[in-house]
Amino acid sequence: MTAAAFRDADYSAPPAEPGGDPGEVALIDSLRDDSGWMPELSLVAVDGELIVGHVVGSRAWLGDSPAVGLGPLSVSPERQKAGVGSALMHAILGAADALGESIVGLLGEPSYYARFGFVPAALHDVKAPDISWGEYFQVRTLTTYGGAAGLFSYAAPFEAV
Ligand SMILES: CC(C)(COP(=O)(O)OP(=O)(O)OC[C@H]1O[C@@H](n2cnc3c(N)ncnc32)[C@H](O)[C@@H]1OP(=O)(O)O)[C@@H](O)C(=O)NCCC(=O)NCCS
Repeated sequence: MTAAAFRDADYSAPPAEPGGDPGEVALIDSLRDDSGWMPELSLVAVDGELIVGHVVGSRAWLGDSPAVGLGPLSVSPERQKAGVGSALMHAILGAADALGESIVGLLGEPSYYARFGFVPAALHDVKAPDISWGEYFQVRTLTTYGGAAGLFSYAAPFEAV
């Protein structure tokens, strides 16, 4: 499902070998084996027994403070634009908030993620792992956020993407 979603996407991580699955597939596999994997923030959308969407949150850092890195987010191509992605986003943000997490960061299209409360990270003096990401690196603060700022770093597997 991840491969199908990202094969059709405007932007996706390069495959490890020509013609292979988009890099997001290997990223999810690597995250599962990493200490940053947060099973409580790996959520699927189902239709009966069929998985039609998946969102992942993993342990990230804002300076020395824990944060959540969001992604990949994927919805089956044939089920897109029917609210599945929005449902997954609301669910993961609600779960992260209930778990006491304070801030979520992601790289993505601002016109999609603004509706979930994401703003350019620079508004909170949060620096992207890669400065060239500009306004595409966004954060969403949660209830316990107390104004932390600094460099955002994802779980290690993201470095290979
Ligand atoms: C992005 C994605 C998760 C959205 O899921 P979805 O279930 O189709 O989204 P929803 O039905 O909740 O929302 C649809 C809305 O999002 C918009 N949208 C979807 N993808 C978008 C994008 N890349 N940029 C801007 N808007 C986007 C649609 O135009 C639609 O807008 P509308 O509500 O104003 O009509 C899905 O399209 C997907 O899996 N894409 C391929 C993988 C991908 O790009 N993932 C995100 C990587 S950061």
